[in-house]
Amino acid sequence: MRTGGEMQICVSSTNAKDFNTSGNKRHCRLVVFFFFTFALPMQHNKKSTPSDSAAYHIPVMLQECLDGLDIRPEGVYVDVTFGGGGHSRGILSRLSKSGRLIAFDQDADAARNLPDDPRITFVHANFAEIKPFLRLHGVKEVDGILADLGVSSHQLDTAERGFSYRFEADLDMRMNIAEENTAAQILNGYSAARLQDVFSRYGEVRNSKTLAEAIVQQRGSRPIRTTSDLKAVMRPLIRGDEHRYLAQVFQALRMEVNKEMEVLEAFLCSCKDVLKPEGRIVVLTFHSLEDRAVKNFFKTGNCAGEPVRDFYGNIDRPFELMNKKAIEASAEEKRQNSRSQSAKLRIAKFVGHKFD
Ligand SMILES: C[S@@+](CC[C@H](N)C(=O)[O-])C[C@H]1O[C@@H](n2cnc3c(N)ncnc32)[C@H](O)[C@@H]1O
Repeated sequence: MRTGGEMQICVSSTNAKDFNTSGNKRHCRLVVFFFFTFALPMQHNKKSTPSDSAAYHIPVMLQECLDGLDIRPEGVYVDVTFGGGGHSRGILSRLSKSGRLIAFDQDADAARNLPDDPRITFVHANFAEIKPFLRLHGVKEVDGILADLGVSSHQLDTAERGFSYRFEADLDMRMNIAEENTAAQILNGYSAARLQDVFSRYGEVRNSKTLAEAIVQQRGSRPIRTTSDLKAVMRPLIRGDEHRYLAQVFQALRMEVNKEMEVLEAFLCSCKDVLKPEGRIVVLTFHSLEDRAVKNFFKTGNCAGEPVRDFYGNIDRPFELMNKKAIEASAEEKRQNSRSQSAKLRIAKFVGHKFD
């Protein structure tokens, strides 16, 4: 999907081991994530058509995800991040005529990629609402759930959505355009302290306090409405690589606009209520904060990673992790689809509430 110079900083496959074992691992993953998410799609600003799902999004670790779901041909599965439908089509290919797939996406654009297949039901909703929407569609329990987090290439490459600093656009960044808060509203409405928190927590922006104060000062004379308004405030404050800095700030805003960490936690908690015993959950992440939350959740049943004990002090472990370490894309896939380079795949089995 994307190629480019900065990739060599830490993702050349020969360096992958060093980078995995070094103390800078988290930092490197963020660099990779930022670059592939924001800087590289520049070369692929292609509009998708229904038959052009590869331009909409290339599915990451497709076979690994399908294998992780351990698909029963007659089963009921949920793809909570339908996007271009690449993973969904893979699931359908492993289902029999009586299998069923429920596909969620909070972005109405994704619906254009729906295959003409009676086994699939599209739900235009946030995956945090998985439980009520499954009920609404008559589904109480499912055999497996797949989540491929973050934004699609289509969203990043559609200039007017305002996700990318590469284009001149209003600062929107909502995956669901029916939601209220845009990035511009956050920039013009949050206090300096709150903006600082967003930039440092989600973007690891080193001078987040200075940036937050500069934004508050600028908006006192004129609101910050567009990508170039924001870039004008940022320009004198850029530290290190310009693209990386811009990408860090834009990513932090996107995560705040879409409340990505909050909805991830709500979604994971709901999975406990909708998965059948032995049901599988497969989650692909592209950001270290997300991966940590998912790993903690599978280990302890909550994103904070704090074991829950019953009356007798036994620990409740609703999930069993299928792999000790997160799975990464093969060297070949990393070469062919650079977005896959920062991907971490975690697979778990719902074992019910077992105390040990
Ligand atoms: C990385 S793409 C998924 C690509 C997909 N697996 C494929 O093969 O084309 C993520 C998609 O999930 C959607 N999404 C992200 N967060 C969501 C949420 N909280 N609820 C519903 N959809 C969400 C985005 O709108 C986007 O279309």
